[in-house]
Amino acid sequence: MNKRKLTPNIPQYWEMLYEQGKDDWDLGKATPALLDFFKHPNCPKDGDVLVPGAGRGWDAEAWAKRGHDVIAIDFCSSAFDFLEKLSDKMNNLKALNTDMFLLNPSDKNIPGKKFDIIYDYFSFNSIHPGRRDEYIEMLLRMIKNNGLVIGFFCPLNDERYGDNPPYSISREELEVRFNGIFNIENKIVPENSATDRVGDRTGIEEIWLLRKII
Ligand SMILES: C[S@@+](CC[C@H](N)C(=O)[O-])C[C@H]1O[C@@H](n2cnc3c(N)ncnc32)[C@H](O)[C@@H]1O
Repeated sequence: MNKRKLTPNIPQYWEMLYEQGKDDWDLGKATPALLDFFKHPNCPKDGDVLVPGAGRGWDAEAWAKRGHDVIAIDFCSSAFDFLEKLSDKMNNLKALNTDMFLLNPSDKNIPGKKFDIIYDYFSFNSIHPGRRDEYIEMLLRMIKNNGLVIGFFCPLNDERYGDNPPYSISREELEVRFNGIFNIENKIVPENSATDRVGDRTGIEEIWLLRKII
């Protein structure tokens, strides 16, 4: 029998995970390590934020509560519907139901501008590993000159998620992919990594601050 496997490149794959309650990464609240990072001296005080692959939007909402104008993207309807409800309550949080690979600063609906900050938690790690270059091209397209990509990269060198997203990546691969395109300004080890339904994230996540080289 020819049973076609869904791939994470399409929203139906994610729809299935949300519907079946296999959204193991979802903390049901803002990521504690992000709330801590807000107090870090290197966390930008202001600037517009893009959140690709925002899921239900807990972290996007946290950025908006901090006072930033935020656009949060997800292409999966279940996640998007939730995200949209959060955005209905906040003037400075906008939800966009589109494929992040289509984002274009010149196309007014998706979303027609560049950003000072791109926040990534489980976004780079969730796309198919074969699309990592394409993802970095999207970052370059969407970030302003001198803008900052804040990558909460997880899982690092950890195979607990197995052959499913979020996919593990090594620090070495991150270095090779980003170095020379972005200035890697800082690597921060969070002190209060969360525990999700797969396990404790302590030791398998790092916050990388990536400044666009102009
Ligand atoms: C592992 S979840 C992480 C969600 C959220 N960032 C978090 O940490 O809770 C990955 C999310 O990215 C979304 N996603 C994956 N590929 C996408 C794409 N190409 N365009 C837009 N959203 C995408 C999925 O629908 C899913 O909600």
